[in-house]
Amino acid sequence: MSLRAWQLAAFAYVLLLVLVALEVPLVLNLGRRVDAEVRAEAASQATLVAASAGGRLADVEQLDDLADTAADAVGGRVVLTDARGVLLADSGADVAPGSSYASRPEVAAALRGQVAQGTRRSATLDEELLYTAVPILEGGRRVGAVRVTQSVDAVRAEVRRDTLVLIGIGLGALAIGLVVAWLLAGALTRPLRAITQVARRVAGGDLDARAEETGAREHREVARAVNASTARLGSALVAQREFVGNAAHQLRTPLTGLRLRLEAASLKAEDPALRRDLEAGEREVDRLARTVADLLVLARGGERPAAPAAPLPVAAAVRSAAERWRSVAEDAGVGLRVDPGPEDAAVAVGGADVALVLDNLLENAIEHAPAGTDVELAVAVAAGAVVIGVADRGPGLRAGEADRVFERFFRGASSGARPHGSGLGLAIVEELAGRWGGSATLANREGGGARAELRLPSAPVAARAGSVV
Ligand SMILES: Nc1ncnc2c1ncn2[C@@H]1O[C@H](COP(=O)(O)OP(=O)(O)OP(=O)(O)O)[C@@H](O)[C@H]1O
Ligand SMILES: [Mg+2]
Repeated sequence: MSLRAWQLAAFAYVLLLVLVALEVPLVLNLGRRVDAEVRAEAASQATLVAASAGGRLADVEQLDDLADTAADAVGGRVVLTDARGVLLADSGADVAPGSSYASRPEVAAALRGQVAQGTRRSATLDEELLYTAVPILEGGRRVGAVRVTQSVDAVRAEVRRDTLVLIGIGLGALAIGLVVAWLLAGALTRPLRAITQVARRVAGGDLDARAEETGAREHREVARAVNASTARLGSALVAQREFVGNAAHQLRTPLTGLRLRLEAASLKAEDPALRRDLEAGEREVDRLARTVADLLVLARGGERPAAPAAPLPVAAAVRSAAERWRSVAEDAGVGLRVDPGPEDAAVAVGGADVALVLDNLLENAIEHAPAGTDVELAVAVAAGAVVIGVADRGPGLRAGEADRVFERFFRGASSGARPHGSGLGLAIVEELAGRWGGSATLANREGGGARAELRLPSAPVAARAGSVV
């Protein structure tokens, strides 16, 4: 689950909790409060009308005005009767003056001097009414009654509307809260993502990558820690490379000297046994010199090329590699078949690195190929890449070797017959191919033998056009 999802879930939980805690009691109270308010308002209006009407019962017009004003104020109907319950004024115009209201229980109660308030179903209107009836007094005498009726359904509808508004406000607050959480989470995760990207670049070998030290204090701390460890890693790597480079350099001169002395001594040696020993010594020194050179290449492991390579025509590189190895192959009784592929195929890889990779693959193939068989060197063009295959009819790989042959110093079962290797050849192939965004594999081929496949990125077509002759 992402940080953003966590934060949204946490915000939603807290907001819902707060909203439920606040709104549920509010909504539950709302009905009761509105009801009480409506009743109080009706009672006060009824009392007001009764007080104003006292002494003016004969003035029908004024009574009508009184009834209309009060009806507007309470949002209902106001009726005034005389002491017998006969209608004097009615805010609703649909009842003929002179009708009797004495049969209405609340009017009857008011005429008896009581204040009546409650709800009942009106048979005439077929709806539930909230009634409030009060007596009209004149000098302590009951001279009539005022009745206020309101529709309970209307009050309920209003409560429902208010409840919906409350729920709407709650949902709105929830939505705003979630949007804020979303934006906040973005602000939290953005610097983290940037740091992750930098860490990935560092893992990919770009030790100059640095995270921007911005954002919250914790973000800055992480960025600072990543930058500090990258810087330390970078300087440690530089120191290690310098050390290996220096050591190899220091070894090279005495090795050359040693080789020259052995050569000179073997020329002077008259004893054939001594000469054989000296020549064997020369070969050992050669091997040591090569291992030192291999280590130098691997010490530069993880380095990115400083600049993109100029497009390298593959056919030419393959042909010249084959020429370098033709005599070795002939000495071993092995044929060398070359298919240089399309002449315009080019790769964006340094020429020296391609040569070194091909040398290692051809050396392996020729060493493994039995006399009388052919080593095939072929180029094919695939989407965005050039594939160079080096195949032989040797013993192939034993089970489990395929995963390990690219490891440094790993030598397989076939090494018994080839005592002079160090197991660094394929490690160098992988290192150099990877440096330019390519890859290498080694697998058994059908019909026996092994096939190494080198996949290198093609040079962009536009760049290639001018450089290939
Ligand atoms: N063409 C091949 N056929 C069969 N096995 C191979 C082939 N090429 C490589 N191998 C196996 O992979 C191992 C590793 O090869 P790699 O080139 O790294 O080392 P090496 O050839 O033994 O020594 P070096 O190349 O350092 O002289 C070899 O020892 C061998 O067992
Ligand atoms: Mg090898």
